[in-house]
Parts: sequence; C-alpha cells; structure tokens
Amino acid sequence: MIKVNNNFQLLPVSYLFSEVGRKVAAFRSENPDREVIRMDIGDVTRPLFPSVISAMHEAVDELGSAERFHGYGPEQGYAFLRDAIAEFDYYQRGLVNIEAADIFVSDGAKSDIGNLGDIYSRECKVAVMNPAYPVYVDDSVIDGRAGIPENGLWSNLIYLDCDPENNFLPSLPVEKADVIFLCFPNNPTGEAIKHDELKKWVEYAHANGSLIIFDSAYEAFVRQPGVVRSIYEIEGADEVAIEIRSFSKTAGFTGLRCGYTVVPRNLKGVYSDGAEVALNTLWNRRQTTKFNGASYVAQKGASAVYTPEGREDVKRATDYYLGNASIIRKALTEIGFKAFGGENSPYVWATSGTGEDSWKVFGDLLQNYGFSTTPGSGFGSKGEGYIRLTGFNSRENTERAMERLIKEKFQ
Ligand SMILES: Cc1ncc(COP(=O)(O)O)c(C=O)c1O
Repeated sequence: MIKVNNNFQLLPVSYLFSEVGRKVAAFRSENPDREVIRMDIGDVTRPLFPSVISAMHEAVDELGSAERFHGYGPEQGYAFLRDAIAEFDYYQRGLVNIEAADIFVSDGAKSDIGNLGDIYSRECKVAVMNPAYPVYVDDSVIDGRAGIPENGLWSNLIYLDCDPENNFLPSLPVEKADVIFLCFPNNPTGEAIKHDELKKWVEYAHANGSLIIFDSAYEAFVRQPGVVRSIYEIEGADEVAIEIRSFSKTAGFTGLRCGYTVVPRNLKGVYSDGAEVALNTLWNRRQTTKFNGASYVAQKGASAVYTPEGREDVKRATDYYLGNASIIRKALTEIGFKAFGGENSPYVWATSGTGEDSWKVFGDLLQNYGFSTTPGSGFGSKGEGYIRLTGFNSRENTERAMERLIKEKFQ
C-alpha cells in the first residue's frame, strides 16, 4: 500500500465546522418539530448583486459563442480584474505601492492560505493567534510545521494569545517567529486593529526577517476611523507582508468562489545558499505550476463588484450583516454574557462567564433556544468558554433567535 502523509493522523478527526454541522443535523433528526436557526457558520445568506449576475450572464454568453469563447486564462487572473483591484482596493485608498503585478486572483482565500505553505521553508517557525481561524493551524499540521499536540497546543507553533485583558490584540512573541498569521478584522473574536498596533508587527517583521500573512477577508466590514483595512497602510509593510482577500464575505461569493492574494514585488526571501529571491517570483512559479486560474465567469462577476453600483451593493450588504451583529451583541449583553466584536466585523464573540466549556454552552443554547453557535474551543485553547455567533443571517432569523433568548431569560 502507498505510504501516506503521517501528519493527517495528528489532525482532529473532522474540521470544526463539519463537527458543528454534524451535531446540528443530529439535533434536527432527534427533534424534527423544532426549528433550528443557524448562527454558527460564517456563510453569507444574501444573494449575489444584480451587477454581478448580469456580468456573469454576459460572460456565459461569451463562452457560448465561437467568436468570443475563452479557454485557459492567465494563471494570475485576468488583467481586467487585477487592474480593478489595484485601482479601487489600493490606489484610490492611497496605497500606491500595490500594483496589478502584485495581485494574484484565486478561487478564494482558504486555498491561498494553505498553498502559501509551498513557498516558505519547512523549517519556518509559525506563529498563530489563539484563538484563530482553524485553517492556519491545520495547514501547518498537514505541512509538518506544527510539531505534535500536547495539552491542546502544538509543540512547534508559537501562540499569540488574545483575551479581554489585551483587547484581543496579541503581544509580540518572545521567541522568534518566521511566519506570522494575523487576521483583522478577526475571525473569531470580531475585533479589529488600529494602525499603531499593527505598526509594531511590521517593525517586528523587519527586525526579525519574518513574513506576515495578513488575512483581511473581512476588511469591507470596517467602519471605525483609524481601523486598518489593509496592512499596506503601514509604511514598509510591502517588504514584509502578504495580504489575503476574498470576495466571499464582501460580495456573497462563498459559493461562486473568487479571492486574491497580494505578494508585493518588494517582498524578498532567501534560499539556504544565501541567494535572494522575490516571493512574488516564487508565488508566480507556484501558481503557474499548480493552478490554472480562477473561472472566467467568476472573475467577470468579481470585476462588477468594482462598478459604482457594485460598490454601493457591498456597502449595503455589509451594513445589513453588521446590523445583525449589533442585534446579537446587544441581546447577549442584556442576558449577562460578555460580548465582543461585531462592530467592524460580522462576528460576535461571547462568554457566559460561568466557566462552562464551549461545547456545553453550544449544547444548552441549541437545546433551550433552538439556535446554533460555534464553540470557541474549536478556534484554539484560548477560545474555551466562548462561543462565536455570526451576523450572516436574515434580519428576521437574527431577531427571532435573539428574542427567544431574551424572552426566556426575563419570563
Ligand atoms: C479569516 C478567514 N479567512 C479566509 C476565509 C476563507 O474565505 P474563502 O471563502 O475566500 O475561501 C474565511 C472564511 O470563513 C475566514 O473566516
């Protein structure tokens, strides 16, 4: 038999959200007459924008016509989309260092997060926020960079603890970190970062020769002034950071699939023989070898997000989800939970403060109020005792779920 990658033996049996889905399905089959409102998974619920739909219709018609047909496209993404991203997400926001040549379009952020592991050394010491989006840790395990599990932590990872004491903004690591995954606005805590705080990380990366992988999948939810949307707002970040973005939460592309990663040409790495190389060159080589480009139809749809109409729709959709998050945060606070996030992010992070573990709180809320949450412990040891709720629902469902909670409490 073929020898397989032993690292899979180390991973938890199932991915966090599959486990939540399994438990919700089991509850539904045991309680067929009870309605469960999903407040757990970070999946959008509103349909694609009309501008996106009509751009895609047109793209499909092109593919159906002998004269206008497109086959393989550029692995890096079509110029029409890379140019629009450079113009609207960077240049017009004063981030003039980022150009189309730095931008690589993909089928979404999750694949890029994992695939980036191909371009940095196996020996790199990886730092992750605790709690964190589980993909950073699980990818590090699969690639053999995480070590072995010991009391809920991986022996080779550096953990950047986030809790109410530090406002969910981790301290710089004491031990030298080579690759640092930062995510702001954060999944799961929903907290965002201001310029002065992020500047410390960029300075750290310069001083230590580290690479920051900045996941800003939720940048479109930022509302407060002074809060970072792109790491390139910090001077010198284009020499130390890769930024990951997605149309998933911004424009409802979770099913359609399109995202992009910025690998600035100024960002350099070094081979073990001392030769320098631009990470942009490596990522380009990686993508042209292992990826054949995102779908033409999806890229046409994504380019419509940058039309005046599309940009208004992004604002409207993200405002809507933020409105839900605010309802959730208010209701949880009313019943005595401590709730965080939800102001520049669709996520609310909450704890009952009773010391009960996350799966117990998850089970109680499901049983007593008929809505599902994501247990915080699934995001790391520092998530124990917390649950994550999402604003990605209809206003009606959000209000109904939260009313159940409040009514019950004060009856
Ligand atoms: C922090 C973060 N990064 C990346 C992703 C994945 O996004 P995509 O749908 O583009 O793969 C998610 C999805 O939930 C996320 O929460």
